[in-house]
Amino acid sequence: MISVQSLRVEFGTRVLFNELSFSVQARERIAFAGHNGAGKTTLMKCLAGILKPNAGIVHAPKGTRIGYLPQEGIHIRGRSLWQETESAFGETLALRGKIDRLSHELAKLDPRSSPYAGMLEEIGGLELQLEATEPARMKPRIESVLKGLGFKEQDFPRDCAEFSGGWQMRIAMAKLFLQEPQVLLLDEPTNHLDLGTQMWVEQYLINYPGAILLISHDRGLLDTLCTRTIAFAHGRAEEYAGNFSYFERESVLRREIQLKQYQSQQREIREIQRFIDRFRASANKATLVQSRVKMLAKIERIAEPDQFQFRNQQGREDRHRRT
Ligand SMILES: Nc1ncnc2c1ncn2[C@@H]1O[C@H](COP(=O)(O)OP(=O)(O)OP(=O)(O)O)[C@@H](O)[C@H]1O
Ligand SMILES: [Mg+2]
Repeated sequence: MISVQSLRVEFGTRVLFNELSFSVQARERIAFAGHNGAGKTTLMKCLAGILKPNAGIVHAPKGTRIGYLPQEGIHIRGRSLWQETESAFGETLALRGKIDRLSHELAKLDPRSSPYAGMLEEIGGLELQLEATEPARMKPRIESVLKGLGFKEQDFPRDCAEFSGGWQMRIAMAKLFLQEPQVLLLDEPTNHLDLGTQMWVEQYLINYPGAILLISHDRGLLDTLCTRTIAFAHGRAEEYAGNFSYFERESVLRREIQLKQYQSQQREIREIQRFIDRFRASANKATLVQSRVKMLAKIERIAEPDQFQFRNQQGREDRHRRT
């Protein structure tokens, strides 16, 4: 569905990620993890095509529909809630409009004329296309998504501008769900939701027919939904083949292993250095010292593991504790 190759984003001197490569298969669910400011939103913007990376490419087959729910900054104006969500069904609405226009013109024509027959045939063709978009499902689907996201029937005709920031996010989410893109990019979708709505969204996403890439502070949602995790820290992104809890356990293990390797290499370096220091002045050991110096230069240094642990992510909370 999407293939990311050697992606790099930096702001000033700060590298958020480098040489990041991964691919997303149909129906896959991937979590982005990392502390505040690590680069999760930035990667999502690259995938949505809003931000151009400093290097690397994001490739999706032509015609792949990718939908993005931003973390903030949603302002919808000038339409009612119903019109806004209905606009998710652009094809259905366009066909309906065209059929209405043609039917209007048809009424002005002489039924015995040949333009009349031609137009009748055209309308027939459009009606078949319209049926293929399942227009009868449109209204019940809009109603079910809006109600699932906490809107009341009396909200439907209200202007979108009347809704506060958190509710604007729900409007954008409703439209996105109804558009049903093949890849859904969600940045903190449950942040402003009450528990009942969170549960509804979780269930909706479990049954979602496309791929989902998710950033969330809600570990319950991450664990239920995601089967892969991409974690960001200190300019690197690492992949984990499991949900958030798996990633937490595994990242601790990976760091322990890295620490052991680092410590053992440091011991080796110290021993070689001691040998060099001790025999540097001895003429009969000159060749041995030289070879040790070369050895030292050749060692590929293992980086000291970060003190930072992924599990200490700020603000990450357990939804079920809030009940
Ligand atoms: N356009 C920009 N110009 C300069 N710096 C930026 C820009 N966009 C983001 N940054 C910086 O890049 C870093 C990563 O930002 P990003 O929004 O991707 O983090 P995040 O992982 O989504 O964090 P959070 O969990 O707080 O949402 C931050 O330090 C941010 O200030
Ligand atoms: Mg963010």
